[in-house]
Amino acid sequence: MKILSFIAVAVTAAAVSLPVAAAPQVNERAADQLVRKSKCLTCHAIDRKKDGPSFKEIAAEYKDDPEGVEKLTKHITVPTTVEVDGNKEEHGVIDTKDEAAILNVVHWILTR
Ligand code: HEC
Repeated sequence: MKILSFIAVAVTAAAVSLPVAAAPQVNERAADQLVRKSKCLTCHAIDRKKDGPSFKEIAAEYKDDPEGVEKLTKHITVPTTVEVDGNKEEHGVIDTKDEAAILNVVHWILTR
């Protein structure tokens, strides 16, 4: 019995000491559907460069950035202009106002 309660305490302590920024569970299906619906895949692919960088490349660049989530959230919600083959084009925004769904896509990109 003693050993069991020791384990319980150890497990609880481990759970509490997890970093606050631990990546939340990503809903793969929801993220995939939303980027398709938002036409992101016209310019991006998971693991190869198209008109835009691959999501893997973006993940590598931002996953250790403490402001990565914030920067990517802004990038996919605020319209900007990007250069594609020397032409200026609108950078699309994610097709939802649901903050949880947007955050899910950001974490989905960061975990590619
Ligand atoms: C017209 C083509 C195009 C579309 C559509 C597009 N992107 Fe991009 N995206 C780009 C290009 C080009 C870049 C590189 C821009 C740069 O680095 O200046 C980029 C960069 C990004 C970045 C990295 C930003 C950074 O700061 O490094 C993210 C994240 C991203 N796109 C996500 C998305 C998502 C999500 C969608 C769908 C809502 C989307 N993109 C739609 C072309 C596109």
